[in-house]
Amino acid sequence: MEHIVISGGKRLSGEIFVSGSKNAALPIIAAAVCCNDSCIIDNLPDIEDISFLVDALTKLGVKCEMLYKDTMKIDATDLTNYRADFESVRKIRASYYLLGALLGRFKRAEVDLPGGCNFGSRPIDLHIKGFEALGAKVVIEHGMVKAYADKLVGANIYLDIASVGATINIMLAAVYAKGITTIENAAREPHIVDTANFLNMLGAKIRGAGTDIIRITGVESLHGCEYTIIPDQIEAGTYMIASAITRGDLCVKDVIPKHMESVTAKLREMGCRVTEEESTLRVEANEPLSPVNVKAAAYPGFPTDLQPQMCTLLSTVKGVSTVTDTVFDNRFQYVNELIRFGANISVNGHTATVDGVNLTGARVTSIDLRAGVSLVLAGLAAEGDTVISNVQLIDRGYEHIEAKLKAVGACIQRKEE
Ligand code: EPZ
Repeated sequence: MEHIVISGGKRLSGEIFVSGSKNAALPIIAAAVCCNDSCIIDNLPDIEDISFLVDALTKLGVKCEMLYKDTMKIDATDLTNYRADFESVRKIRASYYLLGALLGRFKRAEVDLPGGCNFGSRPIDLHIKGFEALGAKVVIEHGMVKAYADKLVGANIYLDIASVGATINIMLAAVYAKGITTIENAAREPHIVDTANFLNMLGAKIRGAGTDIIRITGVESLHGCEYTIIPDQIEAGTYMIASAITRGDLCVKDVIPKHMESVTAKLREMGCRVTEEESTLRVEANEPLSPVNVKAAAYPGFPTDLQPQMCTLLSTVKGVSTVTDTVFDNRFQYVNELIRFGANISVNGHTATVDGVNLTGARVTSIDLRAGVSLVLAGLAAEGDTVISNVQLIDRGYEHIEAKLKAVGACIQRKEE
């Protein structure tokens, strides 16, 4: 097992580059299964979750070939298999996108129940509600979700919760459905828009992605395309917060500033200077920072995937702040690890109350992807050395994290445990 060792207290400065979006790449790779042609996908991040999903596609019978460092050719032309019962499916949450893609293409899908970060309940009832509305029969047996349909017909589907996964999965299942499918109370995240744009490049007819009403008109066939994934909103936000927590001066490059508006606004409210130049956001934290209240919510609200990172930043800001997560019911388990740095945080239901202190380095364990990267942020700020174990969980969503941070002044390295 590997661990990351950090010697804290170094101000980060310089340019840090953001990779392609994990949460856009995963549904887009799955969506390529809908197409009996080949697709070329650029700007893929080199992260574990992509490797797991590509492994699942390969075992299904899809040809996946890396053409260059971040460019993959995916050819599902000869695919006939609709059963995905591999270990790689059980490792990640995004494998549930294979359900929508296989059901959409073959009217049949048998996929192992997904894995993924373990914070609170993560049901897929809304995905199943959508598939059933389109005419599928869905059962869960022997750890698999099995969906079958004689035909798929467009329907009006209201999502009780603006679920990212359910919104995308219903889009995938409805691409070939006869007639019009409407998703109401759809999620609006940038990765949903990216997935819809990719499907439309294949010849699908999807309108309204990015709003709370998405309309899909079924088509007869799809053709291949070449597509470039958007930058990772959460990786960008993590590095913006890394600049603030080290009181540094970082230029976060290759971002879409519009996607970062809630993060920019919150950092400015704390006293950071955030300046925007085309695809760069510069975050300077030279003045003392002020405590704030943060509420994680569906896009365009503050992202829940940056809630742990923001809570970590606030644990170094003198004064009392609050962090509320309205998306997940139990996403504060990482606080127990932050307390090892001396953080002063108490959690009551969906809200953490934080009283900022000076952190000191500690031996800690990553419990999930975003909790893990928050320990890296704490280690960067803490006085003394930090040792983080279970770092493979961080590798699920952050490409070459030590190299990127070392290049802007962090004293960080990976070692065999
Ligand atoms: C996606 O998860 C992301 N994962 C998560 O990112 C992210 O935290 C989440 O969206 C919210 O933005 C990927 O894109 C692979 P949801 P997902 O369905 O689709 C409830 C990361 O770190 N719900 O929008 O699972 C659910 O319990 C990961 O990159 C149901 O009740 O999230 C939650 O409370 C972590 N029934 C809320 O909706 C359902 O059928 C939002 O979940 C589905 C969801």
